[in-house]
Order: sequence, then C-alpha cells, then structure tokens
Amino acid sequence: MEIEMGSRREFLRTASAGALAALTSKTLLGAAAGQATISVPGKEGLIVRSYRFLDLETPVEYMTDWITPIPHFFVRNHMFEPAEIDAKEWTLGIGGEVDKPLSLTLADLAKIPVYSVTNTLECAGNGRSQQSPRVPGIQWGKGAVGNARFSGPSLKSLLEKAGVKDTAKHVVFRGSDVVPGKVPPFIRSIPIEKAMDVDTLVATHMNGAALTPHHGYPARVITPGWAGAASCKWLTQITVQDKPADGNFMLPGYRMPNQPVKPGEAVKPEDTHSVTGLAVKSLIAGPIDGAKLKPGSQVVRGVAWAGEADITRVEVSTDGGASWNLAQLGKDQAKYAWRLWSYPWKPARSGDYTILSRATDSQGRVQPDAAVWNPSGYFYDACDQVKVYVQA
Ligand code: MTE
Repeated sequence: MEIEMGSRREFLRTASAGALAALTSKTLLGAAAGQATISVPGKEGLIVRSYRFLDLETPVEYMTDWITPIPHFFVRNHMFEPAEIDAKEWTLGIGGEVDKPLSLTLADLAKIPVYSVTNTLECAGNGRSQQSPRVPGIQWGKGAVGNARFSGPSLKSLLEKAGVKDTAKHVVFRGSDVVPGKVPPFIRSIPIEKAMDVDTLVATHMNGAALTPHHGYPARVITPGWAGAASCKWLTQITVQDKPADGNFMLPGYRMPNQPVKPGEAVKPEDTHSVTGLAVKSLIAGPIDGAKLKPGSQVVRGVAWAGEADITRVEVSTDGGASWNLAQLGKDQAKYAWRLWSYPWKPARSGDYTILSRATDSQGRVQPDAAVWNPSGYFYDACDQVKVYVQA
C-alpha cells in the first residue's frame, strides 16, 4: 500500500510502535524527500484513517469482487497490534462458567472439524463521516467493510468441549493486542445464544490462507452478521459468564439509543442497547463520485448486505431518486455475505446526474433516504449516492 501522507515528522509523531514495527526501512518509502509515502506489508491501495492504531479503509471502487482480497480488506484496531506471535507458544484459554476449563494449542484447534462462513464484516462506525452533525471517532468514509471466507472450528464445539454450565449467559473474548497506558482493554462479550450458533467461529483462516497479523493471527472470533466489534482478533481467552462483560467497550462503547435522540441530548445508559446485527445497506462501487463519463452504455455496480438477513432487492435511481429501477443481483450468494449487483445505464443527455442505490432485505427492511443520527455514528445506512457528469 502506498499512500501520500503529510510530512515524515507528522508520520513519526503519530505512528504507533506497532505500526512502526510493521514498517521496515524498506517499506517506509519516500520519507527522505519529505513526502511520507507509507507501505504496509500485505496491504495495497487502502486509505489510512489512523496511524496510531492502524485503521485502513477500502476505497469503494475496489468493491467489485464477491470475495475481498486480503490486500484490499479494511483494518480496524483499537490498540497496538501484538508483536509477532509464536504459533508454537500460543494458547487459547476457555474458562468461567464451564465444567472443565481448557487451554488449547493451535494443534488442538486443527483437530476440531472446520466450518466455513462467508461473512461481510463491517465496522459499526462505517460511514460515520457522513453523519451530520459530526460525531467523534474515526471518520470512516464508506469502506470499513469487506466480504471474506473465514474458516475454523465453531465456537460451539469449543464451548461444548469445556462443558457450558446452565448459568452461562454471555461469552467474553480477550485478544492479545497491546493496551497502551491508561486505555481500557478491548474486551467485549456476545450472548450465549449467538455464541452457540454453529456459524460463530474461532477462525484460523481467511480466504483459504492462515489469518494475517492485521486480521488476528493465529485465531479470531467471527460473529457473522454482527458489527465487526463482536469479532475479537488475536484471541487468547474465552470466558463464559452469567452476565455481559463490563468495561468501556460494552458501556458506554458500542451502544445505540433505544429511541432516536437529538444531537446534544443526554442519553441514560439504561435507554441504550449493545450493537448486534448489521443494517441493510448498499454501496455504489462505480462509477465513482465525481466521475466524468463519456456518453453511451455504462454499468452502475456495487455491493449490498444485510447482516443476518438476505438481500432481496437492489434498486438504482439515475435521476436523484425521482424514479427507481431494479438492479440485477450477482450469482454468488451465501448467508451473511454481500451480493454484487449491477444496472446497465445509457444516459440520455449530457450533464449532471445523481445516482442512488437502495437495498431491501428478507426482513422487509429498506435502506432509508437519510440515516437516523446517533451519538456514536453507528450503522450509517442511508441510500448510497454518487454524482457524475456525462460529457458529450
Ligand atoms: N479485536 C481486537 N482484539 N482488537 C480490536 O481493536 N477491533 C474490532 C474487531 N476485533 C478489534 C478486534 C473491530 S471494531 C472491527 S470492525 C473488526 O475487528 C475489524 O476486523 P479487521 O481489522 O480484520 O477488518
């Protein structure tokens, strides 16, 4: 990945130790010329949203493949990535409300039947920068989302090995990311029902290869259809509890108000709930916003997903929402995975066009014209929009 950034000094000031460790002198290119061009091994063409803890966004124009290649898959870190993990030393502890606490090695995991789930992983904060008024947090554009095939034992099979007690209500995950100073650790939990769903994985592989360090090597949770925060990377400890995890990333973090609130209005914790399944959503991958097009046949294309539901329809408007047409859905499909879609379009005249996309899902949810504002900017889901100019 090579990206034009600010000055080298600015880069070195803000880069995390982990990010710097990942950048060898070979990969920090062009810095001497005063133009820090960074290259993150294994990543290509992504937008840097944060250096301190590496946060990389996928440009929408890359979203033309059903399976997102790893070099193009977004990265979201709340902490420093762990230093190199020795697979031989790594263990996964399972404890809490279980009959037989376990400590499993990678070799132990490899003996357990493998499940695969093609899952669209989206950060709850994806699209946050489009919320108005603006809210704090990483100002994600549209691309904190990707679709990959994850494989590994089901979490259920591991929990059954340990024997879950009747008191079990929530399953807490802890990763080995490095917690800086006073920052609270990234610890979250999911309800036991979702943990015991056979599609919830302790994944060791992504797109057929071992997980890469940025995506949680050697093992991560995949909680399909839910906001990415439920999919703990660099997993080291699973604790079964009779209540949800506490701590910053459960409260106040990753919560939505139960009822819409006005910007600035105080929200009591008891009037909020933890984020779970993703919204129904579509994005336009092309033409890109601001494109100048030649007259003649065009294809409007993109992706659409709906968390635990299925996409049933994508509509496209090429006249700013005055009229809508059905897009064709791509043939590749799987539970929890996005659908590619396309719509052939022949603009009738030169001039400006506003193109919109709108998805509908099997629960009857329809992408709204405008997203409901919330204090953390989660689940931004308004119809996607690009403006293009057709030049005769
Ligand atoms: N797991 C740990 N241990 N630490 C993290 O910061 N970030 C979460 C989740 N798992 C995170 C984590 C968030 S917010 C998201 S959106 C996904 O990882 C992103 O996964 P990716 O970086 O593989 O795309």
